[in-house]
Amino acid sequence: MVQTIIVVGGQWGDEGKGKIVDFLAERADLVIRYAGGNNAGHTVVVNGKKFKFHLIPSGIVHEGKLNIIANGTVVDPEVLVEEIENLEKMGFKIDDSRLIISSNAHTILPKHREEDNPKKDPHAKMIGTTGRGIGPCYRDKIARKGMRISDYVESSNSKIAEKMKPLVKDTCFIINEAIEKGKKVLFEGAQGTLLDVDHGTYPFVTSSNPTAGGALTGTGVGPTKIDAVIGVFKAYTTRVGAGPFPTELGTEEQTNKEGTWDKIENVYDEALKEALEKANAGDEYYQGKYMRLKGKEYGTTTGRPRRTGWFDAVAARYAVVINGMSSIAITKLDVLQGLKKIKICVAYEVDGKRTTNFILNTKKLARAKPIYEEMPGWDEDIGDAKSFEDLPRNAQNYLKRLEDLCKTRISIISVGPRRDQTIVVDDNNLF
Ligand code: GDP
Ligand code: IMO
Ligand code: MG
Repeated sequence: MVQTIIVVGGQWGDEGKGKIVDFLAERADLVIRYAGGNNAGHTVVVNGKKFKFHLIPSGIVHEGKLNIIANGTVVDPEVLVEEIENLEKMGFKIDDSRLIISSNAHTILPKHREEDNPKKDPHAKMIGTTGRGIGPCYRDKIARKGMRISDYVESSNSKIAEKMKPLVKDTCFIINEAIEKGKKVLFEGAQGTLLDVDHGTYPFVTSSNPTAGGALTGTGVGPTKIDAVIGVFKAYTTRVGAGPFPTELGTEEQTNKEGTWDKIENVYDEALKEALEKANAGDEYYQGKYMRLKGKEYGTTTGRPRRTGWFDAVAARYAVVINGMSSIAITKLDVLQGLKKIKICVAYEVDGKRTTNFILNTKKLARAKPIYEEMPGWDEDIGDAKSFEDLPRNAQNYLKRLEDLCKTRISIISVGPRRDQTIVVDDNNLF
């Protein structure tokens, strides 16, 4: 029986972890954020309502679950309290039976935010950070100059600190006791494997360990207590922020020039139609633009357009290995509908050599050229598919090929943003 599951992003973030966590949370007792801070943006769509969480675990929309912001995270008190108050306005009762924060999480202070400003700081600009103070806060933690949340709430009399105080606990004991009692625990990853400070495309990464190991240090749970690791991947790839992206379609400059969602919204239908026509005529930039428009690939946190590209099976296989994934969830399969041909990157060519291993040297990775395999696409709308068999044959074949290349079973397929647009194909590693 599976009692503990880590959900981890397999790419560069925004894979749909929030949606998958919300789906799995139905059967969980505890949902825990273990790394990152409000650089994350997790979208959950329930009963036609869209929730966007930055810090609070996506399990909060369910009744009767304990949500935990654990020690591996960095917490901006203002953002946390705003998020709590927004939920309260919607009628959610938030108390320590529903949400707790680790006394050992670190505090994002105004100075961290000021420093991490891509408009002012050339380094933050070079990385393309979310500007939320994440890097400077983790730096101070590692330099042993940081402020833990326990110290923050003790030393401040502000309204914000007062609001947080009853929610601050030594969460490692609570989590381990729950595991001992047989409760089901879901660890909600933020960011993604390729943004991991150790395993990602350094320096174009975040400042924590979003990978499965981070769920252990980030909560105080030992490795022998983990039953399953589910990696979430989009059926294609996106990246927001700077850094190498071998399967990118079009250039980062072209994408950034398109501007934020509000600039596209009014002309959406025509832009989508134009993108599909040009994509199917073979224009790579428009293939990427089609994914961006159809997948609404605009940052939850910053509104920035996300860079888009084909599924990178070389990077995906690396993510499977680094995290020890027991199965994978493929999201946003519906977005590929309409494209006549779909490509999968099966190897890289770099400096005249072919490799199927991910390249850890970031400068070398930036020179890698993807080697593609091409598969036929499908025209049918798959948003209502309820089983693998409901999917068009070409979509089934595409998924089977991804499984082969990742050398891992697919457990979940997502065909739309809603909770009911989720197909379980293998529940061996689920609750
Ligand atoms: P996260 O950071 O990994 O939680 O992902 P985000 O929430 O930042 O981005 C994923 C976006 O895709 C959100 O707007 C989701 O509502 C949406 N989404 C999730 N799964 C699907 C899917 O299968 N199809 C479509 N069309 N949208 C999805
Ligand atoms: P979720 O959890 C996508 C990216 C930023 C930037 C780099 C460093 O929603 O998947 P940071 O502010 O962390 O110092 O920025 O990491 N990044 C994300 N990209 N999704 C996220 O979270 C991200 N969190 C950070 O865009 O490239
Ligand atoms: Mg996100």
